[in-house]
Formats: sequence, structure tokens, C-alpha cells
Amino acid sequence: MIAQDTVVLWNRPEAQGYFRLGLACSSGFDSAKPGQFVMVRIGSEVDPLLRRPFSLLGLIHEQDRVAGIEILFKVVGKGTDRLSRCKVGDRLSVIGPLGNTFLVPETCRRLILVAGGVGVPPIRFLAHRLLAQEEPLRRCLVFVGGRSKEDLVCLTEFDLPGFLLDISTDDGSRGNLGVVTRSLEKALDAEPADLICACGPQGMLKAVAQIAIQRNIACQVSIEAMMACGMGACLGCAVAVRDDDARYRHVCTDGPVFDAHRLKW
Ligand SMILES: Cc1cc2nc3c(=O)[nH]c(=O)nc-3n(C[C@H](O)[C@H](O)[C@H](O)COP(=O)(O)OP(=O)(O)OC[C@H]3O[C@@H](n4cnc5c(N)ncnc54)[C@H](O)[C@@H]3O)c2cc1C
Ligand code: FES
Repeated sequence: MIAQDTVVLWNRPEAQGYFRLGLACSSGFDSAKPGQFVMVRIGSEVDPLLRRPFSLLGLIHEQDRVAGIEILFKVVGKGTDRLSRCKVGDRLSVIGPLGNTFLVPETCRRLILVAGGVGVPPIRFLAHRLLAQEEPLRRCLVFVGGRSKEDLVCLTEFDLPGFLLDISTDDGSRGNLGVVTRSLEKALDAEPADLICACGPQGMLKAVAQIAIQRNIACQVSIEAMMACGMGACLGCAVAVRDDDARYRHVCTDGPVFDAHRLKW
């Protein structure tokens, strides 16, 4: 995997503290998939020293080819603050696509997607990919949650044929009052699902995994870890698993999407 210089096409606020960044890429993203991520160098080679990982929100198409990528980021520290100041035409070195993807079997009839806060990007990419399939899923429930309405991003992008959107906020400022997993449980009480795909904060993912495990529903989660290299070299992103042949897996090379039943929560 080699680094490439990308050019900022747009960098616009999406919601309070969130930015949507479009990057023109020369090559390498034609077969990029939902769940995959990029390592972005922000600023000089020394400050911040490490590249930062961001999931793909989607691909930018120009005529018949993939001309770039889009990411959505939340400003949480030095790197993302710098990223929010990037201007159209600035150059950013990017490595990717990295990592694995969600796997939705063709036999899946009832799919549930769950996104919390900044976990929206891979779920949004997955929803659009499913829609573009030759035989798109006809029933998909999407649960999006946030602390308050300011944390809800890209909602209109789930307004897709065959998709039903259910919104929750912890403070009730938009949608259902309470955590997104409460709404998820209610929906599962009404009708079970074949598969749940989720991305969001660790606490939310743990709760989703517990629900899936209790109800014996297949569940794939895209998880985060602190990443120094993103390519399996530093071994800093290990997570404990229940696999027969390993006690640990690496989020960057074995993930970021994992079978929720195989992770040690
Ligand atoms: C596979 C993957 C995909 C990601 N996708 C996205 C995305 O699509 N959009 C997005 O906004 N963010 C995403 N993140 C998180 C993003 O990489 C971090 O928010 C970013 O690196 C923070 O950089 P910073 O310099 O601004 O913050 P720092 O100054 O490095 O840290 C600020 C605070 O954020 C915490 N933090 C930093 N990195 C992480 C992390 N990886 N996980 C949890 N906490 C962290 C630090 O502990 C600290 O408290 C992803 C992370 C991973 C591993
Ligand atoms: S981030 Fe270095 S091994 Fe995963």
C-alpha cells in the first residue's frame, strides 16, 4: 500500500463540530468497500507525527471512474482541528483503502443498520452500496443515535427506497428519547432480524453486541482503536477475541469490522 497525494475538493461543516471532506485521488479506490478506512497525514511529517484513521463515507464518481473519496470527521483534538482548517486545493497524503468490510449475505432478508455519532460513515457507505446492488435489499431498518440533535449527521442520506430510518437522542431533542439500543430492542421484539451491522462509540457497540448475542442474531461491528500505523506493523491496535487460533486480532488488518460474537467485550 503506497501513500498518495490527494487534493481537497471540499471541506464543509456538516453539523456542529463535524466536517465533510472530499479528496481527489489519482487511483486505488475503485474497489474500496464500506468499513474500510484511510490513514491521513495532517500537517507536516513531524506535527502531528502520526497519521489519523478515518472511515470512508463514500466514493466520488466522475463519469465512469472513482475520482476521489469522502470522509466525515468530528473535531476532537489537534489532528482533526487542523483537518477542519484545510482549504480547497490543499494537499493531503492518504494511505488506503485499508482494512476489511461488512459482509451482507445474499440470503439476508431483514437487515438492521445501527450508527451512533461519528459511527455514521461506514454505515452510510454500506446503505448506499446495498442500494446499488443488482438485487437491493428490500427491507432495511436504520437506527441512528446521538447525544443530542447536534450529533445527528447525514440523516437525509438514509432517505433511500426500502430503508426505514429511526432516530434517537439521549436528551430527546430529536426522535425517540433515550439510547438508540432501546429502539433497536423494540424493533427486534416486533420482528427479528437476520443481521445487524453497527458502528459507533464503544459503549453503544457493546450494548448492540449484547442484544445480538442474547437473541442469537448475526452481528458485525466496526470498531475503533488507537492506531499508529494502520498496516499491522506497530501491533498497537490489538483487541481480545474468542477465536480458536488466536487470543488477539488487530483492528487495522483483521478489522475494523468484526463478528460481534467473536469479540471479548
Ligand atoms: C478504523 C477507524 C476509523 C475511524 N473513523 C472515523 C471517522 O470516520 N470519523 C471520525 O471523526 N473519526 C474516526 N475515527 C477516530 C479518529 O481517528 C480520531 O478521532 C482521530 O484520530 C483523532 O485525532 P486528533 O489528533 O484530532 O485527536 P487526538 O489529539 O489524537 O486525541 C483527542 C482525543 O480523542 C481520543 N482518540 C483519538 N483517536 C481515537 C480513536 N481511534 N478511538 C478513540 N478515541 C480516540 C484521544 O484519546 C483523545 O482523548 C476512526 C478511528 C479508527 C480507528
Ligand atoms: S495500527 Fe499498527 S498494527 Fe494496527
